[in-house]
Amino acid sequence: MERIQKILSAGGYCSRRDAERLIKEGRVKVNNKVAVIGEKATVKDEFKVDDQLISLVKEKKYYILNKPKGYICSNVDAQNKRVVDLINNDTYLFTVGRLDVNTTGLIIVTNDGEFSRKIESPSSNVPKTYIAKVNKVISKTMLEKLKEGVVILDNYKTLPLQYAEVMRKDKKRNESSVKLVLTEGKKNQIKLMFSAIGVEVINLTRVKIGNIKLHDAKLGDYRKLSKDEVNDLLRLSSQKK
Ligand code: URA
Repeated sequence: MERIQKILSAGGYCSRRDAERLIKEGRVKVNNKVAVIGEKATVKDEFKVDDQLISLVKEKKYYILNKPKGYICSNVDAQNKRVVDLINNDTYLFTVGRLDVNTTGLIIVTNDGEFSRKIESPSSNVPKTYIAKVNKVISKTMLEKLKEGVVILDNYKTLPLQYAEVMRKDKKRNESSVKLVLTEGKKNQIKLMFSAIGVEVINLTRVKIGNIKLHDAKLGDYRKLSKDEVNDLLRLSSQKK
């Protein structure tokens, strides 16, 4: 979180002093609420001056990282190890969406709030592929239920899955590994979906976002996304579900 005047000036909109003046004059809105001096925000928020959306220019950065266990996607909680600190960079970065602290796998990290909002939006249609190791042998019926959608929190029925497959069944240990492709991302969605059919997730990894795969990346590894990869994600996000 940073002071709004700092975000506006760092983003090249105006000087810090001018930003303070605009705020005092009540002309700046953050997420459609009039901003006040001293208020803090992040570049992920939406800024308007005189009711016009402003875009903050700076070099846009996009990374894909293989998140290890024990790292959190939030930037606020300084008590924990943060995903963004794994990236050697001096700009303010944040993750696109979240993975739970114990989930591993692909996460996009950026400083582009507009891109992040598009990819994360509920109407976004970027498929995300997960492999879940669970504490039961998953039957055809159970898999069908997950595919069709199950009721999780607040009576919400999950959207039909793009794909689901039991990849491994271990009857002796009473475990399975299941591949799931989702186009939505409610908090803890996969754990809640399995829980809705009486199953617990032991391990969860995200192996693909859109067309970007994990390949052989080690935990903690990251690389820049190419322009084509960024454009492909934006294309997918605006496709109809
Ligand atoms: N679903 C979950 O339950 N956890 C994650 O980290 C991602 C999806």
